[in-house]
Amino acid sequence: MFSDKDIAHFSNLETPFYYYDLNLLKETLKACNNAANAYNFHVHYAMKANFNDKVLKEIKAIGFGADCVSGGEVKKAIETGFTNGKVVFAGVGKSDKEINYALDQDIFCFNVESLQELQVINELAEKKQKIAKVAIRINPNVDAHTHANITTGLDENKFGINSWDMPACADILNISANLEFVGIHFHIGSQITNLDVYKNLCVRVNEFAAWFEDKGFKIKILNVGGGLGIDYHHPNAQIPAFEAYFKIFADFLEVKPYQEVHFELGRALVGQSSSLISRVLYVKNGKKKNFIVLDAGMTELMRPALYQAYHQIENISPSTTGVTVKYDVVGPICESTDCFGKEVALQETFRNDLIAIRSTGAYGEVMASKYNLRDAIVTVTSDDI
Ligand code: LLP
Repeated sequence: MFSDKDIAHFSNLETPFYYYDLNLLKETLKACNNAANAYNFHVHYAMKANFNDKVLKEIKAIGFGADCVSGGEVKKAIETGFTNGKVVFAGVGKSDKEINYALDQDIFCFNVESLQELQVINELAEKKQKIAKVAIRINPNVDAHTHANITTGLDENKFGINSWDMPACADILNISANLEFVGIHFHIGSQITNLDVYKNLCVRVNEFAAWFEDKGFKIKILNVGGGLGIDYHHPNAQIPAFEAYFKIFADFLEVKPYQEVHFELGRALVGQSSSLISRVLYVKNGKKKNFIVLDAGMTELMRPALYQAYHQIENISPSTTGVTVKYDVVGPICESTDCFGKEVALQETFRNDLIAIRSTGAYGEVMASKYNLRDAIVTVTSDDI
């Protein structure tokens, strides 16, 4: 929701840009923090969702840790001031260079995704005479009931170590002198809106934790990943259902007194606090279709092209005719998939009108590309207004 002041400010700016509402971000973080604290749960922010400096500053300030998926993200987390002891490093393909860097930084833990990776981390840690803390990422074969392209916890997905490899995994952990096995990690997918999915995950987490403890391993960390979805159809509803989400884990996870429960939320923390603001370059009224061509394209926001993702589209300029028209809202990129929405009902739209594409705080700015040699994306924050 934009105030008249916001819109007046936007109309003086060059477009496109990502607008961040830092107050909403702070409110969202606070809501999540309160809900997690009620159960003594720990949150690591999944930095891949958004690593804008101002966003990271707020997340660090609330005290969350950082969940990173590359050496670059580990470096950024540490430069931003996240304490090394609250940085975790996941990812199916960590290079030796990235592992060595993370070892040098004494991060909290590696979330390890294959048997071979366990052996490599052990070898690299031995060379540095260090003990690497590791959690193993287990693929629990739980369906997240989300878009196939953002499903990660099924046997056919590339992520994590499969259940049938657990005995071999235990053998490697037993003989690896430079690994400290701290826990088990799961992440079954993203934009999960059916919370029942998490009950199924809890059942699997309990089973795997018990299996390892039966073998004599002490599991200190139960890391259940992230994935909590946001309501893209109601961008003004804004704060996700953190309480209901955490309550499921409180109710269904079997947590021993010495165990900590860790979460890796990305989208739910940042998704609603940003919109992509763009201008209409051209209106093309045809016999079959009406198009509005924006100055933002899939190069700025790739989600619709990549996952057929829905984002609410609003014309935020004052309406002059009171008429509603259906448009296909497209970008300027030379690709037919460069389309933000089809048959979108908008007030009659004209060249230079401002268009807001909502709920773009997660996986928006970070996935922007230079395809077509586009200008780098610009950001504006509420404290600039
Ligand atoms: N932990 C791990 C190991 C992950 O791979 C991810 C996201 C997260 C946590 C955070 O998930 P979240 O809470 O944000 O759902 N680009 C896609 C989403 C890809 C998610 C990748 N992994 C999109 O735009 O929908």
